[in-house]
Amino acid sequence: MISDYSEGVAYIDDHYVPLRDARIPITDRGFLRSDATYDVAHVWKGNFFRLDDHIERFFWSMEQLRMSLPLNHAEIRHILEQCVSKSGLRDAYVQMTCTRGVPPRGSRDPRECTNRFYAFSQPFVWIATQQQQQRGVSMVISDVQRIAPEALDTRIKNFHWLDLTMGIFDAYDQGALVAVLSDNAGNVTEGAGFNVFSVKGGALTTPERNVFEGMTRRTVIDMARQFGIPCQLTAMPRAQLKDADEIFITSTAGGIMPVTQLDGRPVGDGQIGPMTQQLQRSYWHRTSSDPRNTPVPYENTMEKENI
Ligand SMILES: Cc1ncc(COP(=O)(O)O)c(C=O)c1O
Repeated sequence: MISDYSEGVAYIDDHYVPLRDARIPITDRGFLRSDATYDVAHVWKGNFFRLDDHIERFFWSMEQLRMSLPLNHAEIRHILEQCVSKSGLRDAYVQMTCTRGVPPRGSRDPRECTNRFYAFSQPFVWIATQQQQQRGVSMVISDVQRIAPEALDTRIKNFHWLDLTMGIFDAYDQGALVAVLSDNAGNVTEGAGFNVFSVKGGALTTPERNVFEGMTRRTVIDMARQFGIPCQLTAMPRAQLKDADEIFITSTAGGIMPVTQLDGRPVGDGQIGPMTQQLQRSYWHRTSSDPRNTPVPYENTMEKENI
């Protein structure tokens, strides 16, 4: 049977299927207990951005959670390439996931599970659409606390998203698009799928602790080094964020996105600042020119099911 893979392709149990048909076992602890790790890479104009760095980080997260797969780096890379190549998507969001798996009946012992690998591609995802970015994003500092790193190392990419999700509701209740969560000392951390940067007097600051060390955050830190822009990784009290000249958020799902309103007030003069614009231009340039990018080996977009 011929299927249209153009809305995305999933890889499950050694098969590629249209994303909309992908199903996981309901007793997988990944679903029942959020017992999973994942990573998200992106493809822009037919090129993967830093795919090997994403896969390395994925292996690191698995190791921290005492998970393993019978797949090596090159095999995972091949599966991800296939998920995009079969879809024909030129701009894509590409997720790899490892779950604890399905326990034997009656067992609560995670060691008894065989860890499972899932992957999928879908059209590129934006935290803020391009129209929203043109005006700048509105953000609130939520009272919801980010899960403490003593409870869960936030550098491990994980499915414990309820704090982040309640932050999204907080943002919507206050008429904003996104929320950044605080820690128990009142410092700003991160939001649902993004890191945060502030600009003050020509220098960048981003929270050091209690955050996922995002690939886009890493890329901004690299660019700052390259351009000679001071960039500090340190605790960021709420007051410091409120006093910023510019704020932006970073994510694979949208790159560098300007924030022009914080807690209902304009950030700086309320316009998208020059540092944000410079970094944003440079980021999108890198998505097509970074030497770590790799082209997707495209094939036909219409494929036979279950190849
Ligand atoms: C909690 C959290 N922080 C930050 C990020 C940004 O990371 P990256 O730039 O690798 O997409 C993500 C991405 O999903 C995330 O889930």
